[in-house]
Amino acid sequence: MSTTPLIELQHLVKRYGDKTAVGDVTLEVHAGEIFGFLGPNGAGKTTTIRVIVGLLQPTSGTVRVGGYDVQAQPLQAKAICGYVPDQPNLYAKLTARELLRFVGDLYGVKRTQVAHRIEELLRLFDLTAAGDDPIDSYSHGMKQKTALAAALMHDPRVLVLDEPTVGLDPKSARLFKDILRQMADRGAAVFLSTHILEIAEHMCDRIGIIDRGRLIAVGTMEELRALGKGERSLEDIFLSLTGGAEYAEIAEVLR
Ligand SMILES: Nc1ncnc2c1ncn2[C@@H]1O[C@H](COP(=O)(O)OP(=O)(O)OP(=O)(O)O)[C@@H](O)[C@H]1O
Ligand SMILES: [Mg+2]
Repeated sequence: MSTTPLIELQHLVKRYGDKTAVGDVTLEVHAGEIFGFLGPNGAGKTTTIRVIVGLLQPTSGTVRVGGYDVQAQPLQAKAICGYVPDQPNLYAKLTARELLRFVGDLYGVKRTQVAHRIEELLRLFDLTAAGDDPIDSYSHGMKQKTALAAALMHDPRVLVLDEPTVGLDPKSARLFKDILRQMADRGAAVFLSTHILEIAEHMCDRIGIIDRGRLIAVGTMEELRALGKGERSLEDIFLSLTGGAEYAEIAEVLR
């Protein structure tokens, strides 16, 4: 069975001046899939994500979201996409209720549904009581949950998240994982970057490993295992593919 991918990168290249942050990345994420994007610091994950959600222009190559070219049809692409950045920059003077209402209006959520949806999301994220406090009075995790709630407000078909579990307590992290699974099971495509290999291993249907701007491996856990020369854990596979040998040098330095 072949379906149209909800996220499609073709030969994506992004340079900052002379520096190639993303070099020729081609990949697809289909409806129903959670795709985990792994890579060392500076590998190009955030850059790729910012191109997918239309915040950065590709240097070359194409990106499609829901079949829409992000460059040529940015509004259509953005309308079906929810995005949680690595450092959510929320309107700090607004309350969570005000923010969600604003986002609902922005994305054209039906007036009759907005209030219900806001209360549903606040309840889901344990933010009902704080819902009328300004966001700048929230803890880091509460801000993170508010950002996720805002990204879910218009029930996006494509959800893109940059290291979304950083700072979440175990209950919130679990809730967050359950929500992403539910979204995927209902036909959304989820693209997330993470450094938490346990999340990638247990939550993601497929995993892509990027290193110095190059996609060096893509596949299911089984497929990655087959690449990993007998390594069993994703950590071992990740380290061997992205230069885990450097750890021997560290041991040398610390001795
Ligand atoms: N605005 C920018 N101007 C110049 N170079 C940049 C800019 N943003 C990122 N880079 C460079 O592009 C490369 C990729 O950065 P990116 O933020 O995409 O990495 P990342 O995989 O998200 O890393 P991390 O795991 O640390 O979040 C890095 O070498 C970084 O220095
Ligand atoms: Mg990043």
